[in-house]
Amino acid sequence: MAIDLRKPDLTVAVFGAGTMGRGIAQVCAQAGLTALLFDARAGAVAEAIAAVDKALAGLVAKGRMSADDKSGVLARMRPIAFYDDAAGADVVIEAIVEDLDAKRALFREMEQRIAPDAVLATNTSSLSVTAIAAGCARPQRVAGLHFFNPPPLMRLVEVIGGLRTEPALVEALVDFVKRINKHPVVATDTPGFVVNHAGRAYGPEALRIVAQGIASPREVDLLMKEAAGFRMGPFELLDLIGGDVTHAVMVSMFEQYFGEPMYQPSPQMTTRVAGGLLGRKSKQGFYSYDGAPDASPPTVDVPAQPKPAAAWVADEEGGRDLAGLLKGAGIAVQLGGAPAPDAICFVTPLGEDATGAAVRLALEPARTVAVDMFGRFSGRHTLMKTPLTSPETLGAAVAALATEASPVTVINDSAGFVVQRLLAMIVNVGTRIAELRIAAPTDIDTAVELGLNYPKGPLALGNILGPARALAVLDGMHGVTLDPKYRATAWLRRRARLGVSLLTPD
Ligand SMILES: NC(=O)c1ccc[n+]([C@@H]2O[C@H](COP(=O)([O-])OP(=O)(O)OC[C@H]3O[C@@H](n4cnc5c(N)ncnc54)[C@H](O)[C@@H]3O)[C@@H](O)[C@H]2O)c1
Repeated sequence: MAIDLRKPDLTVAVFGAGTMGRGIAQVCAQAGLTALLFDARAGAVAEAIAAVDKALAGLVAKGRMSADDKSGVLARMRPIAFYDDAAGADVVIEAIVEDLDAKRALFREMEQRIAPDAVLATNTSSLSVTAIAAGCARPQRVAGLHFFNPPPLMRLVEVIGGLRTEPALVEALVDFVKRINKHPVVATDTPGFVVNHAGRAYGPEALRIVAQGIASPREVDLLMKEAAGFRMGPFELLDLIGGDVTHAVMVSMFEQYFGEPMYQPSPQMTTRVAGGLLGRKSKQGFYSYDGAPDASPPTVDVPAQPKPAAAWVADEEGGRDLAGLLKGAGIAVQLGGAPAPDAICFVTPLGEDATGAAVRLALEPARTVAVDMFGRFSGRHTLMKTPLTSPETLGAAVAALATEASPVTVINDSAGFVVQRLLAMIVNVGTRIAELRIAAPTDIDTAVELGLNYPKGPLALGNILGPARALAVLDGMHGVTLDPKYRATAWLRRRARLGVSLLTPD
C-alpha cells in the first residue's frame, strides 16, 4: 500500500511553479504541509514565491490572515533546485508543461529518487493519467490530482485513478484533498474527466446559435444570465478563459472521443483564434475590452407597436402560464380553439421551431410568434419569429410581453430557442458523463457547481426542468435538425420514461 498520507509531517514536492504549481504549493503550505517547489526555468520559483507573498499580504491587509500565519505559510514553501532535493517527499505533484513526454520523463526521474511507496500525482487537464503512469516502473502509485485555476480559490480537486492505479491510493488521495481543505470528486481516467467534459455543452452550443444567426453573443449572454440564472454568459466565459484555450480543449475532446458529434468544435473559433480575437487577454473577443461601448445591433429589428387588442395562445404546455401573463398586460386572450382573424397567435414549443409549431397547428405564419416558457423564468422573455412573421406582429407581441422586470429578446427561428437549447444540452452531456460511469451522479453535480460555477449541476438542473421536458426538447431539436449531436442519452430517456430523478443510479 502507498504511504500514509495522514501523517502529521507530510512533505509535498510540487514541480512547475507556474499558474497552477505555485497555487498548489500555497494550498499545501496553508494546510500545514511542507511544500517544496521546483521549476526548470531559473528564477521561476523565486517569482512564484514572491507572487504568493503578495497574495498573502493582501489577505493580511484585509484581516483574513494573521501576519504570523503568513510567515508560517511562506516558511513551509521551500524552493528546491535539484531533483535530489525532493527525494524525501511523500507526494510529488507535477504541474509542468502539458506534454506527455515531459511528464513521463519527470516521473521517471523522480521514481528513482523518492521512497518506493511515495505518490506521483499529475495535474494534467487533457492527458491520460494511465498514459503518464505507463512510463513509470510502478504505475500503481501514479494518480491524477486535477486542481482548478486559481487553486487557492477553487475548492474542487478531481482525483483520478489510472487503469493500473492501486484503488487504495485513490481513497488515500481523497483524504489528502480533504486535508488540504479542498473538495475531492473521484473521476475515471477519461478525456476531460468530469468538469472539462461537462463544459462541452454551454460554449460550443452557444457558438452554434450565433453561427446560425439566431441571436448575437450579447443576446445569448443576457438570456442565460437574466432568464436562466447563470453568473456568466457563454461568450463572457469564452472571453475570460481565452478563445485559444477553449478552442484547444474543444478540439482535443472531439478528437479524443473519436468525432462524437455532441463535442463538435466551432469552425468559427478557428478563424477567430487565427485572427487574434482571443478575449480579454487580446482586448478583443466577442466583446471589446479597450473601453469602446458595445454597439452590437439586435439580431432582429422590431418596430415599436402598440399592444395588440387580442391574442390567441395555443393550449399546449406553457400556454396557460403565457395566457396569464398576457391577461395581466390587459390583453384579451383566447386559449386554444380557432384563432380570431385579428389575433396574434402565440405558441410555446418545446424543442420545436416556430415554423414547425405554426404549421402543425395550421396557424398563419405571418401572425405567429413563439415564446420560450421552458423554465418559466421571469427575468427575460424570448420571442421567436418564423421566417414569415410580420414586423407588425413582432412589434405588437413585444409590446404585449415586455415589462421593466422582464424585457424581451427577439430571435430568429430555431429548434429550442436559446435557453431551452443550452439547458437541454447541458443536461444531456451531464447524463452522458453519468452513463459512461465517469463519476457518481451526485459527484458530477458537485464537480460542475464547484468547477464551472453553474447555478446547479446538470443532473439537478434536469430534475428542476423535468427529465421528460428536457428529453422533449432534445427529441424536438433532433427531429427538426436530424443532427446526431442532439440525440438524447439512454440515461436521460430511461429516467424520463420512468418518471424518476436523473440522479437515480442504475
Ligand atoms: N492553467 C490552468 O487553468 C490549468 C488548470 C488545471 C490544470 N492545468 C495543468 O497544469 C499544468 C501546468 O499548467 P500551468 O497553467 O500552471 O502552466 P504554466 O506555463 O503557467 O507553468 C508551467 C511551469 O512549469 C515549468 N516547467 C515546464 N517544463 C518543466 C519541467 N520539465 N520540469 C520542471 N518545470 C517545468 C515552466 O517553466 C513553468 O514555470 C499543465 O499540465 C496544465 O494542463 C492547468
